[in-house]
Amino acid sequence: MTVPTKTLPSGAELPALGLGTYDLGDRTTDSVRAALDAGYAHIDTAEGYHNEAAIGDALAEYDRDDVFLTSKVLAKNLNYESVIESCEASLDRLGTDYLDLYLVHWPNPAISLRETLRAMAELRERGLVRDVGVSNFSAYQLSCAHHVSDVPIAVNQIEFHPWFQRPDLVDYCRESDTVIEAAAPLARTDVFDDEVVAELAEKYDKHPAQVVLRWALDNDVVALPRSSTPDHVRANADLDWELDEADRRRLDERDRDRPVYDTPARDWTDDVYGIEQ
Ligand SMILES: NC(=O)c1ccc[n+]([C@@H]2O[C@H](COP(=O)([O-])OP(=O)(O)OC[C@H]3O[C@@H](n4cnc5c(N)ncnc54)[C@H](OP(=O)(O)O)[C@@H]3O)[C@@H](O)[C@H]2O)c1
Repeated sequence: MTVPTKTLPSGAELPALGLGTYDLGDRTTDSVRAALDAGYAHIDTAEGYHNEAAIGDALAEYDRDDVFLTSKVLAKNLNYESVIESCEASLDRLGTDYLDLYLVHWPNPAISLRETLRAMAELRERGLVRDVGVSNFSAYQLSCAHHVSDVPIAVNQIEFHPWFQRPDLVDYCRESDTVIEAAAPLARTDVFDDEVVAELAEKYDKHPAQVVLRWALDNDVVALPRSSTPDHVRANADLDWELDEADRRRLDERDRDRPVYDTPARDWTDDVYGIEQ
């Protein structure tokens, strides 16, 4: 497979396809192995996924420098010392001495963003992380991050799929040279039932997942599909085919402003957000 890359501020190349690992449970190690054997060179995890040790087990069998590895610090751990400690603990569990990318998992209005990003700059200075970024940031929050950060904010990882295309946020990311990573690029399978996705899957003799991933990459977005099924992991890397421009535009028109996880009804008092004391 041929996977395009995005150049990050450090000069590193970020592969546009990565394996998402949220909620893979006891299938994590096998799934990561299946991905790396299939030619993926990018794995996305987070301290909140509680799977870094299992990913470390798989990574130990491969050359670390061949893999682009991302982790994230929980919103409750965004004060200076906690960011440093979270990163060191992630490195320990993953069995590596650096992360290619370290993200603020969610914004936390109860903790100073300036303080958080000072810690991220320190991690970069110490060589523990090569690039830093954010996740689930609105355009306003991302703009604040760019203004107060001493290090470039390389990435915003956001929910993005045909039913939730977020044009204003996407435009701002592009204007500010922030690479967009699509979390839940398959809308956790919801978009498989979209009539245009299904029709194009039939037309191109592909699975709906493959259509949606091809579309994400054609839209210059990094996609992070998750699968616990090795055959699906491999199928999702089948990117050596083309979606006609007209068909790509038909998918562009499927936006319904419909999130699967980043919903306005989200309960921000959950322990991981650290808002409630
Ligand atoms: N930053 C954040 O806050 C955030 C939030 C959400 C997600 N993410 C990242 O984005 C990644 C992906 O998002 P997600 O895990 O929410 O869901 P997703 O990738 O949108 O969807 C995963 C679902 O799709 C199915 N699937 C995958 N490939 C398939 C195929 N080829 N054929 C049929 N079914 C297929 C999987 O089932 P099987 O296991 O059976 O294949 C699973 O049920 C996460 O793992 C995480 O790394 C980040």
